[in-house]
Amino acid sequence: MTKKPSVLFVCLGNICRSPTAEAVFRHKAKQAGLDLEIDSVGTHGYHIGSPPDKRSRAAGEVRGYSFDGLKCRRLDDEDFAKFDYILAMDSSNYDNLLKLCEDQDAKQKIHYFLDFVEGDEKEVPDPYYGGKQGFELVLDLIEKASDGLLKHLQSQTRKT
Ligand code: 4NP
Repeated sequence: MTKKPSVLFVCLGNICRSPTAEAVFRHKAKQAGLDLEIDSVGTHGYHIGSPPDKRSRAAGEVRGYSFDGLKCRRLDDEDFAKFDYILAMDSSNYDNLLKLCEDQDAKQKIHYFLDFVEGDEKEVPDPYYGGKQGFELVLDLIEKASDGLLKHLQSQTRKT
């Protein structure tokens, strides 16, 4: 049996942006009929075991995404071997991932999530210390990037 394509979303705390990306992308992948392994982690361990931030959850649920069962996990070394796509929400996450990844070949798997959106913007801004608008912007960016990533994965599966 061939391994499912796998995607890991990464932010700092794994309670706002990356669980939102996980929830949105799970929803869109299911709608598209793609069978994928999808997970999210934080580069830091401030909130290990906690559910997603209530503000992320509230904003996402209004748009129809489920956050049920998601719990904060910290990135570990095995993630670099396990996942095909390791997607950073911002440049700080991206730089941290490159520093933490000891396997030179696995570094190729690390990208910005917004690489899957046309344009130069690479940052999904951290909404944690801001207001409601920040959580809406996170969702807007993540929805666009999820659509781009799905298209990319669909084109890859057609090639294999
Ligand atoms: P996230 O947001 O990286 O999108 O999950 C944050 C969550 C928590 C903290 C910072 C950012 N914090 O400092 O606790």
